[in-house]
Amino acid sequence: MEIEDDETYNLIKRHLLNSRGFDITGYSRSFFNRSIRKRAGRTGSKSGLDYVGRLRKDDAEVNELIASLSVNVTDFFRDSDAFTVLTSRVLRPLVEKKVQLGWSALRIWSAGCATGQETYSIAICVAEELKRVGTDSDIVVRIVGTDLSPSALDVARMGFYSAERVKGVNDALLSEYFREVDSGYQVVPLLKRMIRFSKGNLLDRPTRRFLDLIVCRNVIIYFSRPMHDKVIDNFHHALRPEGYLMLGRTETLMGPRRRLFEAVDHENRIFQKASVPVKSGF
Ligand SMILES: C[S@@+](CC[C@H](N)C(=O)[O-])C[C@H]1O[C@@H](n2cnc3c(N)ncnc32)[C@H](O)[C@@H]1O
Repeated sequence: MEIEDDETYNLIKRHLLNSRGFDITGYSRSFFNRSIRKRAGRTGSKSGLDYVGRLRKDDAEVNELIASLSVNVTDFFRDSDAFTVLTSRVLRPLVEKKVQLGWSALRIWSAGCATGQETYSIAICVAEELKRVGTDSDIVVRIVGTDLSPSALDVARMGFYSAERVKGVNDALLSEYFREVDSGYQVVPLLKRMIRFSKGNLLDRPTRRFLDLIVCRNVIIYFSRPMHDKVIDNFHHALRPEGYLMLGRTETLMGPRRRLFEAVDHENRIFQKASVPVKSGF
């Protein structure tokens, strides 16, 4: 199947840009070709142009292609130190402040959550903090996990993972927050009650506001600079004053967006929304 020609590349590039603002310029061509070959094979397309036709009439396929270009790779407690720091510098102070002020809801967005491991990891850290302060019934935890990929979200909603996939979870947390079933592990209802998974494009203006924390790791690294800026602006809009933002270790804020946040932990890319734009970034 001829799929690696420039015409196919340019047509797909234009379609993704026009329909979703998704810019593939920054992707390596071989990675792009591999993804297209895979998706064309799955959809039974006979040629590159055939696949372009499919993309034009099937919105769900556009989602699948973007998701495969964006890579669904994820893990529980990915970069485990980052979750330790997230707990001590963000979740603990947030929970303590809520208890002190009598605020009832803790609102978190796990953006680009793939198959849910990141979202459940955050929920486990929150559950541990609630246990520590002993007020688990007083604070309502609302965590939303969003992604473009419907198939990734199906896995996330099920909350069932193979033994291989839960390797990043230590024994104590595994026995507390998972139930061993036939061939894998099922997350407990306590975590499921905290989380709602829904489909969403990070480029769309978020409807949710006044969030305490947004975690968006290993997603914007695949984005072009204009997309990157747009997503950061969306996060800034969705956070409450002094809300926190956590990116992946290889991602950061760029240009004028640096002034919108203050660094909390640079190594783990944790930032706090500045009440007034800060003079110099970090
Ligand atoms: C590499 S995974 C990262 C998963 C998780 N955040 C982590 O760090 O382990 C990237 C995820 O971002 C999602 N994604 C890519 N572009 C997106 C967009 N524009 N809107 C929402 N999700 C997107 C992909 O579908 C994929 O599941």
